Amino acid sequence: MEQANRAQWRSKIGFILAATGSAVGLGNLWKFPYITWHNNGGAFVLIYLVSVVLIGWPIMMAEILIGRKTHESPVPAMEKLGPKGWSIVGWLGVLTGFVILGYYTVIAGWTITSFISCIQWSFSGYTPPADGAFGEFIGNGPLQILLAFIFMAATTLVIWKGINKGIEATTRILMPVLLGILIYLVIMVMFLPGRADTFKFLFNPNFGELPSTGILEAVGHAFFTLSLGMGVMITYGSYMGRGESITRNAVMVVFLDTFVAICACIIMYTIIFSAPGVAESVSGSTVGMLFITLPDLLYTEIPFGHIIAPIFYILVAFAALSSTISLLEVIVSLFIDKLKMTRHQATIIGSSFAFIVSIFSALSLGAVGIFSKFSFFGEGKEGVLSTLDHLAANWMLPVGGLLITLFVGWKLDKKIVEEELGLFNEDGSPKFTYQMFRFFIRFTAPIAILAVIIAVILGKDFS
Ligand code: TRP
Repeated sequence: MEQANRAQWRSKIGFILAATGSAVGLGNLWKFPYITWHNNGGAFVLIYLVSVVLIGWPIMMAEILIGRKTHESPVPAMEKLGPKGWSIVGWLGVLTGFVILGYYTVIAGWTITSFISCIQWSFSGYTPPADGAFGEFIGNGPLQILLAFIFMAATTLVIWKGINKGIEATTRILMPVLLGILIYLVIMVMFLPGRADTFKFLFNPNFGELPSTGILEAVGHAFFTLSLGMGVMITYGSYMGRGESITRNAVMVVFLDTFVAICACIIMYTIIFSAPGVAESVSGSTVGMLFITLPDLLYTEIPFGHIIAPIFYILVAFAALSSTISLLEVIVSLFIDKLKMTRHQATIIGSSFAFIVSIFSALSLGAVGIFSKFSFFGEGKEGVLSTLDHLAANWMLPVGGLLITLFVGWKLDKKIVEEELGLFNEDGSPKFTYQMFRFFIRFTAPIAILAVIIAVILGKDFS
């Protein structure tokens, strides 16, 4: 039964804006430049691009298709389409939403501080932070809780307002601004001397330099960056009208997400390569590049850095916000559809629970000993924040993604898939795109994901 009163995206590009907003986030601006750097560029980038096409694109299509067919959030959607057991995909997704929100808001909170510092530096001159200042900052428990709270509150406000007045209205402004700032920055760095080194680093694959774990790391990241494996695209797809092309929408979102990730690398690497000696000393810590190395270089090395720097951190904050929105929406839409809450009740209850998780993450960066040292996954993954990141990126998303490929590829009635995608020629024969999708969703994607899961079991970390 279709829900007559279910919200729909108002504008034709409503879905693309919201879904791209979800996909583009800290994964693109913080994580991708960092892991690409550690995997020595070129070959890693190439493999990442291949994973995006072979695994990311078909799963994106599959999730949207499930949502659009049923016009329901993940749990009822799966209940409607499959034998009841498949609704586990939806439940797992909601749980993953809490896990990711519970640490993502903390890291997103750092962008607020970076922005404020940049504004101060821009007006009163740059003073390099003392050694260890960042450690002190993240170890300040109350401050970390406050920043995560601000981020969660902003997310809550958008979701409170609903699909059209909240998500659609917000992303309609955020996404063009974000793309605009990004393109402006790419143009600006093109005048810097590090340009040539950057292009060589990114687009000149040398497989000898690819660490052995690089392939699997690229696959794992494809999930995270495209917001796949937890039902975001099912949920957003459920607000999509019948007249729209799932294929075109999926291709756009995948393209834009990848474009932003590559631009982020071009911007950061060119700045790094342009400053003498910095490339060798870029901080090895995961947080290093975006929050420690970059602000410093923007002020010391870059013409007009005092203008670019605050703009850049607004960009990161916006990107993070449009991602946290999607995470909360998955939770809220389940509460509405399944527990029959109103949107306002669901929003308050959902975000309060997620915020409780954030408090633990916020206190796990040095503030509270047991939270910081707590270790479930072993060395290098100590603390609540790292544990949650590891749990989501390495276990929950790949498992969710695998289940979706198996469901759409092997279980779901082929007729439904064909109807939703509509990729047929006039004579009734399937288009090449359809055959490609069918092959990827049945074989390529599940096999590659299984490889990741097996690798994780054998001990490789993707977070
Ligand atoms: N894709 C976002 C990023 O790259 C993060 C994100 C938002 C996400 N929603 C998600 C990741 C759902 C996995 C699942 O920052």
